[in-house]
Amino acid sequence: MTTNNTEYEKRLRWFHQARFGMFIHWGLYSLLGRGEWVMLHERIRQGEYAKLADRFDPKKFDADAWAGLAAEAGMKYMTLTTRHHDGFCLWNSRASDFTSVKTTAKRDFIAEYVRACRRAGLKVGLYYSLLDWRYPGYWDCKVHAKSARAMVRQAHDQVRELMSNYGKIDYLFYDGEWVPKVPVPRHADGKIVSNEVAKFWQSRKLNRMVRTLQPHIIINNRAAIPEDVDTPEQEVTASTAGRAWESCMTLGDAGGWGYLHNNPNWKALPQLLQNLVNSAAGEGNFLLNVGPRPDGSIRRKEVNLLHAIGKWMETNGESIYGSQRTDLQSGQLGRWTRRGNTGYLHMFHYPGREAVVPLVATKVRSAELLGNPSPLKVRTEYNGRLIISGLPASPPHSSMNTIKIRFAEKPRSIPFRLADKATWLEGSM
Ligand code: GLC
Repeated sequence: MTTNNTEYEKRLRWFHQARFGMFIHWGLYSLLGRGEWVMLHERIRQGEYAKLADRFDPKKFDADAWAGLAAEAGMKYMTLTTRHHDGFCLWNSRASDFTSVKTTAKRDFIAEYVRACRRAGLKVGLYYSLLDWRYPGYWDCKVHAKSARAMVRQAHDQVRELMSNYGKIDYLFYDGEWVPKVPVPRHADGKIVSNEVAKFWQSRKLNRMVRTLQPHIIINNRAAIPEDVDTPEQEVTASTAGRAWESCMTLGDAGGWGYLHNNPNWKALPQLLQNLVNSAAGEGNFLLNVGPRPDGSIRRKEVNLLHAIGKWMETNGESIYGSQRTDLQSGQLGRWTRRGNTGYLHMFHYPGREAVVPLVATKVRSAELLGNPSPLKVRTEYNGRLIISGLPASPPHSSMNTIKIRFAEKPRSIPFRLADKATWLEGSM
């Protein structure tokens, strides 16, 4: 998919407007509380793992509660694991018997989830793992060629079901495209010689089918072809301008996207807000993950953190939704986002009565601190130093505060070339 065409821009409009979504990892593995990779990490026999389905009867599952929480946090979409690497489907798959409909729960959680997203006005994202650990053909597609073919067929059949049976799906998040015995030959510069992984999964054919069934859909890059969205994991790394990207991250410890029984390593609120802002500053999205308990409920700690983000978003959200890039500098103060001619300066630490930002080339019309009624004073000194004064002694928000500046035109910073490095000493930039 090329990044410079208007069809791409149009199709991704809601995604760029949204900026913030909820990732949910939930499945049989949640019962064990040791993360979603537990079956493989502990080498649990297939028969024994399958017995977990007898106990999977999540009485407290309430998709509306999930969607309500996401909306309260200021999120605009959700992405749920329809089936992770363990192969257990949360929907009524005809291509498998290992599903929540054919076992104890007897429920199609994807149907409930999709309805709840729509009721809450959220866009619908589905996560689907191509690989399925239960197939010997995954482990050795040469020795178990027939099994490998069956796994690929399962992926095509199941993606077709998900794309056909639940109405409009907005986002398809593939995962698990790597295959142990399929090499990824690369040139010396790191570029892939031939895309054997995409050939293995028949990804082009697969995505042609997806786009025929869901013409508006956005597809991520994890079926071994770039498609629409890059997906850095547990880090915020911007793609080149014009290319959509989404950074996914756990709320708690990086060692588990699914429920971890004891999970003391929660990210602090300022850190979560910085990740959100850093994503928005690079025109990327932040997909923040929760791992509900086996019964479907989300623990208090996660709920509280999401509420706290939501509270911040109520006042500061205009700096996030639909954010654009800017080359405005902030020294060590924080990070800018932009919307049109308006710049939003997110202060990662509060500077007291006065904030100073360097190298601003554009005329300022007005400035305010979001969440604070009185206007701020701004004067520009030499070297494009913007002195913003009139800030309250104590900030309206304890974690992060945003100064909104209306500029006379699209804001720019003064280019600082190494060649004229010393000119600033005279104040003549
Ligand atoms: C990874 C992991 C997985 C997690 C995912 C989230 O590829 O295998 O457990 O679902 O990324 O992005």
